[in-house]
Amino acid sequence: MGEFITNVPSYKLNTGATMPAVGLGTFGSDKYTPDQISAAVKGAIKAGYRMLDCASVYQNEDRIGNVLTALFSEGTVTREELFITSKVWNDQHREVEKACRKSLADLKLSYIDLYFVHWPFPNYHAPGCDGDSRNPDSKPFSVDEFMDTWRQLEKLYDLGLVKAIGMSNMTVAKLEQVLPLCRIMPAALEMECHPSFQQEELFAYAIKHRIRPIGFCPIGSPSRPERDRCADDIVDTQLPEVVSVAENHNIHPALVCIKWAVQRGLCTIPFSVKEPQYLSNLKCTTEDPLTDDEMELLKKADKNCRLVKGQVFLWPGATDWTQLWE
Ligand SMILES: NC(=O)c1ccc[n+]([C@@H]2O[C@H](COP(=O)([O-])OP(=O)(O)OC[C@H]3O[C@@H](n4cnc5c(N)ncnc54)[C@H](OP(=O)(O)O)[C@@H]3O)[C@@H](O)[C@H]2O)c1
Repeated sequence: MGEFITNVPSYKLNTGATMPAVGLGTFGSDKYTPDQISAAVKGAIKAGYRMLDCASVYQNEDRIGNVLTALFSEGTVTREELFITSKVWNDQHREVEKACRKSLADLKLSYIDLYFVHWPFPNYHAPGCDGDSRNPDSKPFSVDEFMDTWRQLEKLYDLGLVKAIGMSNMTVAKLEQVLPLCRIMPAALEMECHPSFQQEELFAYAIKHRIRPIGFCPIGSPSRPERDRCADDIVDTQLPEVVSVAENHNIHPALVCIKWAVQRGLCTIPFSVKEPQYLSNLKCTTEDPLTDDEMELLKKADKNCRLVKGQVFLWPGATDWTQLWE
C-alpha cells in the first residue's frame, strides 16, 4: 500500500458542492496513450486524488470509466467521494444531451459533477490535427449560438445528469455578454493559467461573480502538442522567479507553479502519468506553503504568454489567433 495524501484544500462552489483544489488532468497531448492515462487515474485515486478533469475529445473516457468501475467495486473509493468533470466538444454544440450521455456511458457514471462547454465556438478540428489546419465551416463567436448551447447545459442540470455547469476558454468580454442571459450561472470557469500567463483580469472577474476559476496548463504544458508550440513561448519552470522560489523550498519548479495556483485561489489540474510527479503535485498543496513575499514575487513572472492559442479554430477571413480571445 503506497502513500495516501490527505488534507488537500478544496473550494465550495456556488451550487453548494465541494470541489478539490487539485485534480488530475487527463489530456494526453497526443503523446500519452489512453492506457497510460487510465493507469495514472487508478494510481492517483489510490493516492488520494479526488478530482479528475475529463473531456470527450481526450478520447480516453471509456478507459477511465473502466478504472472507475473497478475502483468502486473493490471499495477503494465511492462515487460520492469523487469530483469528475467532462466537456462537450465543439462539434456537438447542437446535441449536447447526446454528447453528455455518451460521456456518462463511457465513464460509466450516472452523473457528472461539472460539465463544461469546452470552447465557446462550434468550430471543429479533428483530434490530433496540425496547427495549420482550418475548417471552412468555422465561425466567429456568436452570443445566440453560445446561449443555445448553454440552454442545453441548463437542461442537463435540470435532468440531474450533471451537478454543475461551467464555461471554458472564455474572455471577460464574452462573459459580460452571456452571464446576464444565464438562467443557471456557471459554477466554474476553466482557463489557461500559469505563472507566465496569469490572466489577472479574468481571474478577478470570475471570483467577483462567484465562479471558481480552474487553471489549465498549470506547469506551462511542457508536453503540449506541436500545434500549440511557438518559437517565443516562455518555459514557466525556467522563469527566474519560479526557479528562485523553488530553490528556497528545495522543490521542483513545477511544484512552485502548483502551490502558487492553489494559494491564489485556483483549482489546478496538472497532468502527469508519472507516479512520482502526480504524487508530488497533490502532496505539495498540503505542506510548506509559499510566503506572501514569494507570492508577490511570482506576480512579477507574468508575461501574458498564452500557450493554447486556438489557431485551429479560426474562421475563413480571420488571420490572427488573438481574434479568438476578444
Ligand atoms: N479546457 C481546456 O481547453 C483545456 C486545455 C488544455 C488542458 N486542459 C486540461 O488541463 C490539464 C493540464 O494541462 P496540460 O497537460 O496541458 O499541462 P500541464 O499540466 O501544465 O503540464 C503537464 C506536463 O508537465 C510535466 N509535469 C507534471 N508534473 C510534473 C512534476 N511534478 N515535475 C516535473 N514535470 C511535471 C509533465 O511533462 P512530461 O510528460 O514531459 O513528464 C506533464 O506531461 C490537461 O490534462 C487537461 O485536463 C484543458
